[in-house]
Amino acid sequence: MIFDELQELGRTAVEEEQAAEHRINVCVAAGCVSSGSDHLLQQLKEEVAARGLEGKVLVKGVGCMGPCAGGPVVRVASEDILYQNVQPEDARSIMDQLGKGPIERLAVPTDRPFFKRQEQVVTQNCGVIDPERLDDAVAHGAYSALAKVLSEMTSLEVIDQVIRSGLRGRGGAGYPTGLKWSTVAKAGGEKKYIVCNADEGDPGAFMDRSVLESDPHRVLEGMAIAAVATDAQEGIIYIRAEYPLAIDRLKKAIRQAERAGVLGKNVLGAMHEFHVQIRLGAGAFVCGEETALLASIEGKRGSPRPRPPYPAESGLWGKSTLINNVETFANIPAIISNGADWFAGIGTEKSKGTKVFALAGKVQNTGLIEVPMGTPLRDIVFEIGGGIPDGHSFKAVQTGGPSGGCISAENLDSPVDYESLAELGSIMGSGGIIVLDETSSMVDVARYFMDFSMDESCGKCVPCRVGTVQLHELLEKFLRREAGPRDMKLLEELCDTMQTCSLCGLGQAAPNPVLSTLRYFRNEYEELMAGEPAAAAGEEGES
Ligand SMILES: Cc1cc2nc3c(=O)[nH]c(=O)nc-3n(C[C@H](O)[C@H](O)[C@H](O)COP(=O)(O)O)c2cc1C
Ligand code: SF4
Repeated sequence: MIFDELQELGRTAVEEEQAAEHRINVCVAAGCVSSGSDHLLQQLKEEVAARGLEGKVLVKGVGCMGPCAGGPVVRVASEDILYQNVQPEDARSIMDQLGKGPIERLAVPTDRPFFKRQEQVVTQNCGVIDPERLDDAVAHGAYSALAKVLSEMTSLEVIDQVIRSGLRGRGGAGYPTGLKWSTVAKAGGEKKYIVCNADEGDPGAFMDRSVLESDPHRVLEGMAIAAVATDAQEGIIYIRAEYPLAIDRLKKAIRQAERAGVLGKNVLGAMHEFHVQIRLGAGAFVCGEETALLASIEGKRGSPRPRPPYPAESGLWGKSTLINNVETFANIPAIISNGADWFAGIGTEKSKGTKVFALAGKVQNTGLIEVPMGTPLRDIVFEIGGGIPDGHSFKAVQTGGPSGGCISAENLDSPVDYESLAELGSIMGSGGIIVLDETSSMVDVARYFMDFSMDESCGKCVPCRVGTVQLHELLEKFLRREAGPRDMKLLEELCDTMQTCSLCGLGQAAPNPVLSTLRYFRNEYEELMAGEPAAAAGEEGES
């Protein structure tokens, strides 16, 4: 079987690691590359060559390790030492210091809550494997779940595992993944499609990009398992053109998987055909909405259409289409390998598993994190995030991007899961968390997100096309201290109309940042009506 040959490939990578006395991992995901980690990687490799240490010192480019703000990040894996803000000129010192403990000026503790409080499922191999090497991915388990599906399981058993795992879509809406798979599996027709939604348009969100840059084979494996389970033959990854590194790594991964016989005419040598191609999006937020995305793939203008029919019934070119988010697919190999009960044991009653978040804003440790569903917001902000920097105090967290809302200090103990966030007037969204301190004006925050929704509205329906502009104008009026009680009433009525009458999720959810700030920070709107300063008008937070 082809999987045996693959495993042989993986064994070579393991032996290479085992033979090395020292192992140095350099982050080559976009955040660190933008601060020069590719030069650092090159410098370290040249140092190894100059000292004749090839084979003894293994220098590897790896994906995201999490603390993105401290890039370039380097991990001396053989000694569990983590360095941040490393420059190419530090390569010599790192080499000199191997086996002698950490370089104090660069080292950061690896036992701090930022790492210890996380539970890595989707990001398990991020920062561990070289994302451009199939052998390294296989050495760390890639395609073993696909081999299990092909050799030991029926399609029904695979779908049953996904249903029983409780996995819900990570693209925002939280729809049960197994149910969607089951609909596509039952659909008739000669051709079916698997589409991976990698559009990721929320401002501040970079989870999907990081996963694709760090472990592209995991996403391909999830898609291939979905294809086998639903009897689909074609896969398409829709990714925004603004993600060149992720696209490059995906292209390499697809080529490697095809050459190794993992994808193609006979998936892992079995009687199942599955090809994957990439389609580039031009960066319109609305193209992340599934019907707009499918229209864009078909070469039409990317604007949403009413549902039903849902893509599972009638999607690409009228065929049944399974569309899932990057992180949703990336969860699948672990569910198949470890079993549905294992996955269902993580998280809360209705939100199972973990969630990857992009932690950003006024917090000490910004970066990529993965925590069990149900982790309290307080733990994310103050333990993992390390609290608010520069002596400032906490004011709010914004989750869910332009479709989400702001959550105030008194709700910090709420668990992060689909239901709790919705009760608080926000949404899980795809996983952006932005921390705000007392210097932020919440009306201005609402205006910022409305500005985004106004720009990104596709204009197809009136409530959203006109509503976002009107809401934006009203918020500006508040910020100019020209608004009166009638404007407050108008603001609320307009939000209600947009929620009820807009055609797609963009317009329906665009009022959320306004409604949530009105709910928790109404005083800031009122004080602006009274002509008082906008910021510092929030709740007393904690520092
Ligand atoms: C305006 C808008 C933008 C969206 N953007 C994304 C996106 O970037 N990525 C994504 O996976 N889902 C996005 N969605 C949700 C998709 O429509 C769809 O629900 C999702 O891809 C389904 O996958 P899942 O079940 O795995 O979450 C967006 C929805 C709306 C309304
Ligand atoms: S709600 Fe907005 S984005 Fe959605 S179809 Fe209407 S105008 Fe377009």
